[in-house]
Amino acid sequence: MSSSHSGLPQPLSARRGKPLSGHVKLPGDKSISHRAMIFGLLSVGETMVEGLLEGDDVLRTAAACRALGATIERLGEGHWRVRGVGIGGLRSPDEILDFGNAGTGSRLMMGVVGGHDITATFDGDASLRKRPMRRILDPLVEMGVQVISQAEGGRCPITIKGAADPLPITYSTPVASAQIKSAILLAGLNSPGRTTVIETEATRDHTEKMLTYFGATVKVAPEGHDGRRIELEGRPELKPRPIMVPRDPSSAAFPMVAALIVPGSDILIEGVMMNPLRTGLLTTLLEMGASIEIVNPRYEGGEDVADLRVRASNLKGVDVPAPRAPSMIDEYPVLAVAASFATGETRMRGLNELRVKESDRLQAVADGLAEAGVTYAIEGDDLIVQGMNGAVPGGGGVVATHLDHRIAMSFLVMGMATDKPMTVDDERMIATSFPSFVSLMRGLGADYYA
Ligand code: S3P
Repeated sequence: MSSSHSGLPQPLSARRGKPLSGHVKLPGDKSISHRAMIFGLLSVGETMVEGLLEGDDVLRTAAACRALGATIERLGEGHWRVRGVGIGGLRSPDEILDFGNAGTGSRLMMGVVGGHDITATFDGDASLRKRPMRRILDPLVEMGVQVISQAEGGRCPITIKGAADPLPITYSTPVASAQIKSAILLAGLNSPGRTTVIETEATRDHTEKMLTYFGATVKVAPEGHDGRRIELEGRPELKPRPIMVPRDPSSAAFPMVAALIVPGSDILIEGVMMNPLRTGLLTTLLEMGASIEIVNPRYEGGEDVADLRVRASNLKGVDVPAPRAPSMIDEYPVLAVAASFATGETRMRGLNELRVKESDRLQAVADGLAEAGVTYAIEGDDLIVQGMNGAVPGGGGVVATHLDHRIAMSFLVMGMATDKPMTVDDERMIATSFPSFVSLMRGLGADYYA
């Protein structure tokens, strides 16, 4: 168990304070950090990584890569070296692969193990043990993977025996999920043929981009209205490449919304990744009338990045279409917070996937809004939040975080502008994705207290 899981819950409260000001540099993107370790493992030689997110989730993936044969060293803050063993070179780990809270790490690594003639057991904390894994196991079984054991309903702990020669498959993902897509492609790396994934809605494309960057042959074509078809030629020799991890837009969401709702705020968030498959929240906030200026757009480390100048704004409610969900899937909790401070109603459509994140996020957000005195409704898969029309939510409640980092951060942001403080029941899981969150927010002026 890591520090983020051990000991007693640590409540933390946020109360209204002064306007936020200053410049912030966020940690590296979580999705790319996981993949940096994995691509390092799967190439022969040295992969140097700059700007790695040193959150618990990513450290779990690094530990799993070590257990499968990689040599991984931390050379300095965010600066890591991975000596990989290459596709086909993995060994069966001696220990259980404990992914803690990390859905992405565990699912992507199931793909990696699934493409090798090795056996491994995947496990994690109480949150991870509740998350559905059949969505990953089903396509892997089609590729020849054997599921040796699993907890009820296809959940962790799960033991799989990978396929020595994974069958090349064509797979249409039943839900829009970059994790499913990535697991199949990673298993397909060791397949003697072509692996094809079809998604009806495009999801984050970091795996495809990094495959190409490391020397694999990948073809990406549009599919239907919003979807994509990704074809990977198996058994490439991946060549180590330096990775500069861009700053995480999903972490940027928290200071961004905080600056919008705390009156008088004016902050600059530096070097945020602007991959269009990750910027749904930005699009939505701009539609709500947010004052966010995209400053100095540039191309760094294979991704578009920009600085974001965010000023306190009078927001208005909007209708967020369901097809936008994949590009902001992790940002709905904090969007619900922003919507509470808006004029009018915000309807967020198509949120069924939120039910299977680190917690049932749809319910956790609704319960948190209730604690803050905000009126909301859940209609099917939609969340409807009634804005306070110029007033501020009363606050004063204690929010149950259910081992979910984004629920904790969202309601700590909310408490920065509610009438009475907001408390989250446990801040420890914030370390899974954004270990510097509390100090960074305090640096901007947040009044957080235990
Ligand atoms: C991720 C994909 C998303 C997201 C998660 C990171 C990734 O999950 O929620 O935080 O890095 O591939 P799904 O693709 O399952 O929606």
